[in-house]
Amino acid sequence: MNDDEVPAATATAVAKQVSAFYECHPYPPPVDDLEAYRQLWNDRRRRAESHLFWPAEPYRENRSILVAGCGTTQAAHYALRWPRAQVIGIDLSAKSIAFTQGLKRKYALANLELRQLAVERVIELGQSFGHVVCTGVLHHLPDPDAGLRALHDVLQPTGALNLMVYAPYGRAGVYMLQDYCRRLGVGHTVQEIRDLAASLKALPPDHPLAPLLRNSPDFADKAGLADALLHPQDRAYSVPQLLNFLGRAGLAFGRWVRQAPYLPWCGALASTPHQSRLLGLTAEAQYAAIELFRGTMVRHGVVAYRKDRPTQGAPVDFDGESWLGYTPIRLPDTLAVRDRLPKGAAAVLVNRNHTYTDLYLPIDARQERLLAAIDGERTIEGICREQGDRNLARAFFQQLWRWDQVVFNTS
Ligand SMILES: C[S@@+](CC[C@H](N)C(=O)[O-])C[C@H]1O[C@@H](n2cnc3c(N)ncnc32)[C@H](O)[C@@H]1O
Repeated sequence: MNDDEVPAATATAVAKQVSAFYECHPYPPPVDDLEAYRQLWNDRRRRAESHLFWPAEPYRENRSILVAGCGTTQAAHYALRWPRAQVIGIDLSAKSIAFTQGLKRKYALANLELRQLAVERVIELGQSFGHVVCTGVLHHLPDPDAGLRALHDVLQPTGALNLMVYAPYGRAGVYMLQDYCRRLGVGHTVQEIRDLAASLKALPPDHPLAPLLRNSPDFADKAGLADALLHPQDRAYSVPQLLNFLGRAGLAFGRWVRQAPYLPWCGALASTPHQSRLLGLTAEAQYAAIELFRGTMVRHGVVAYRKDRPTQGAPVDFDGESWLGYTPIRLPDTLAVRDRLPKGAAAVLVNRNHTYTDLYLPIDARQERLLAAIDGERTIEGICREQGDRNLARAFFQQLWRWDQVVFNTS
């Protein structure tokens, strides 16, 4: 038995505890108004998402989507976000499924099917999926490997998995407080959660949990607090552990959902004397080292594919000539800031989904013109024809990609 294997009796007991926990504390706190979400998901956002997961495939809207461990809202979100897709949401928690049923009725989501079913038993759906979404779930399973293998088995050969699991170093304070609560026998009744929230007000300001309490939306309400600090089962994966986890399930790492925080070219590390050492490492070793240097990552969001997928599609690559044929698509939530600029900059590009303040990209006037020429239709070659200078374009579009400003349609 290796470290990741779990005895069957323990697994059953833990699964029961997790299930009981989510019956009491459905997550995320249920909402009944998805109008803003519906408005947000326009065609531009859909195209960007499609090419983030499938750069080498033409845009498609009608994939089959599995939302595994969908909680109260996520499956309804996907059904709204992809109205032409068939979406199935599964969850252990009857309460979460019932909340989602309410959203399905309210928004007439005919493309959404819901089942109370464990991830480990997803094969019972008798169906495979082009897109599998599983965020915030597997780290709560007694045997996460069994869960991930089950997802692999229902992922179509050309499908993409969007997986999010906790990361350990940024959650050190969470694990300390979980241990503290266990020692005090703190349960998860409403009164115990209230007492915990009150007690946390006395937490030393330099406690490792303090930055999360201050800044993370996960701690903004009592449901989030319970989910983080009173959860009966939660483990985290460092980068090497995550890559092994994927490998054991027959999956291959594709990319980080947001990659700039993991790359040696982006952020403060890029201007340290260590950058050249980092560049000498393999990509996997770079990610692992950067996770240690950043020290505060709380989760990893990853895109993975089956190891045996038939056409891998050439990875995004700026070494040969193929990059000229890529069509850049701007990612939503990116922003060109134009006030208080560094000297010589025409704008500074940021991605509002980044949580690290060192991830900003100053650009000059020529780069700004290239950026303005991106329309989601023209290839880089087409843009160069108007805006000139291929070498400048190559370096710039690679930067935009690394900094999560664009994805490419390479099909
Ligand atoms: C933290 S919530 C995440 C919900 C959703 N994925 C999201 O990101 O909003 C975890 C969910 O996983 C569900 N869950 C836990 N263990 C499960 C299992 N073995 N099979 C299916 N769902 C499970 C819980 O009931 C809960 O709804």
